[in-house]
Amino acid sequence: MECTEIGEIVVVGGKGGVGKTSVSAMMVKILSQNGGRLLVIDADPVISLTHALGERPKGTIGDYREKIIGSDEEKRAVLKRPMKAIIREMMISIEGRYDLLTMGRSEAKGCFCGTNEMLRYGIESLCGEYDTTLIDCEAGIEQVNRRVVHHIDKLFLLTDTSRTGMMTLTQLRDIAVQCNEGKPIAVHVLVNRVRSPAEEESVRRSAAEMDMTVIGCIPEDNAIREYNHSGKSLLCLPDDTPAIRALREILARISL
Ligand SMILES: Nc1ncnc2c1ncn2[C@@H]1O[C@H](COP(=O)(O)OP(=O)(O)O)[C@@H](O)[C@H]1O
Ligand SMILES: [Mg+2]
Repeated sequence: MECTEIGEIVVVGGKGGVGKTSVSAMMVKILSQNGGRLLVIDADPVISLTHALGERPKGTIGDYREKIIGSDEEKRAVLKRPMKAIIREMMISIEGRYDLLTMGRSEAKGCFCGTNEMLRYGIESLCGEYDTTLIDCEAGIEQVNRRVVHHIDKLFLLTDTSRTGMMTLTQLRDIAVQCNEGKPIAVHVLVNRVRSPAEEESVRRSAAEMDMTVIGCIPEDNAIREYNHSGKSLLCLPDDTPAIRALREILARISL
């Protein structure tokens, strides 16, 4: 059955170490509790969200890319089947909660624009079968555009409370707008690891100076550190832990 392209593509971006993967995993927890069809894409080449959710990848787009690049037989096989069906075989399906696609990485060198385009087309048409697609990325927004999907609907720009973190966000916002091929993009600044109302006040002020509005703050939460430390899935975080409570309230405010 052909599905209409109704899905909303949501990306969590920001500089390294600010909590993108942790916040993405918490979003998976909240969004999967809300119902609706959810596709989760781990677009970090070193595979991180997959582990934060307590999963191991069945296959990755990176491995598959290597396989088709190295074999004419595989290339021919690809042309005979819908790309979406091939990609589905690499995905993990958590019954009734979410489906997970792990991008992984590919070492193959050279120009494989055709292969990349085909994979990206497959991923993008897959996104159309879900209400929400959530993408956690390691590298810049342009990497998402190059490797995963052509456009983004909502971008969460995550930062810690540092001024340099906030400054990075203006660059990321501009890149995202540039990469979005003229399509509208909603940019939401989210401040993570906030420790006091005074800190919150000061980040809101510096965001305003940079012409950005903070959609919400997520507190420093020891439970996240402990779960990450012991390798426990962040999906098991208690519903009432402060970070989950704050994020749920923020997502509800923007009807996600
Ligand atoms: N709100 C939070 N409270 C406490 N620790 C956090 C919080 N968010 C993230 N962390 C910790 O920060 C570190 C980096 O988080 P991670 O999600 O891997 O960042 P990124 O994906 O941006 O590189 C992890 O050790 C994680 O446990
Ligand atoms: Mg990460």
